[in-house]
Amino acid sequence: MNIRPNVYVTRMLPEAAIDLLAAHCDVEVNPEDRVLERVELLEKVKGRDAVISLLTDTIDDEILVAAGPQCKIFANYAVGFNNIDLSAATKRGVVITNTPDVLTDATADLAWTLLFATARRVVEAEKFLRDGKYQGWGPMLLLGLDVTGKTLGIIGSGRIGSSFASKAKGFNMKVVYNDIAANPEFEAATGGVFTDKERLLQQADFVSLHVPLLPSTHHLMSDKEFSLMKKTAILINTSRGPVVDEKALARALKNGEIWGAGLDVFENEPAVDPDLLECANTVLLPHVASATIETRTNMGLIAVRNILNIFSGKPPITCVNPAVLQAE
Ligand code: GLV
Ligand code: GLV
Repeated sequence: MNIRPNVYVTRMLPEAAIDLLAAHCDVEVNPEDRVLERVELLEKVKGRDAVISLLTDTIDDEILVAAGPQCKIFANYAVGFNNIDLSAATKRGVVITNTPDVLTDATADLAWTLLFATARRVVEAEKFLRDGKYQGWGPMLLLGLDVTGKTLGIIGSGRIGSSFASKAKGFNMKVVYNDIAANPEFEAATGGVFTDKERLLQQADFVSLHVPLLPSTHHLMSDKEFSLMKKTAILINTSRGPVVDEKALARALKNGEIWGAGLDVFENEPAVDPDLLECANTVLLPHVASATIETRTNMGLIAVRNILNIFSGKPPITCVNPAVLQAE
């Protein structure tokens, strides 16, 4: 690289990533620990050669225009890229990259954390103890649901769904899954059986969502779907909030149509539907599935390597709009 690209980072990232970037580029990082306002983002991207964006930044045509024609890449610090107008980026010749693979296991682990925490009422039990209510062992105290030997229903058989399902072996679970088509790789890794969505919802004791947010997956889980589920079933969502109709979920929980829900993502983050906050048997987390020290560092390093590759004439590692590369 014989020039030092001018790179903007919309929020502080792990130090190792910023250090690597700063070794090769002129870097400015948003110094405040908050999402930039739209007007600030429009101003800050101006004249940059590259930007590291987050899932909380909406990157649309107006932002790409504001950045200017010299801008080569927006490296999104997330596996999901529903915050980016991909066709606008492709049209303007801007490479978009994401951070897959490095967060697969961390996200699958968090889905298991939610599954157990919900089934065994861990958060509620811990609060009960800390509130000084524990009077000794009780035969009916805080009864949850078994996990081992149950049926796990996976919707979305990609990397994360596959990692999540393969970890079910240790709990001797039957795995059923649904996707737009059968996935032999998923079946080989998990022993899962392809099942139509309706039957999956009827059979599964735990339904875990691992789809990207697309028009076709918006409200994939709504009133009809909840009515098909077992009254003892638990929904787990670590994908994207709008995949679940939150109002319908709150109704299903209140009416006892399903037993519980463990959620890491919400329809209108950071807002959580007040109806959902009132529901018992829910574990609600602030979008922390990839939030481990190791994983967030690796996500940062991938975002940076994508940028460094672009400016040293190499292909990016994880481009999500490869049409842009062919056009060159
Ligand atoms: C997190 O939600 C991600 O897409 O990385
Ligand atoms: C995301 O990386 C997925 O494929 O599940």
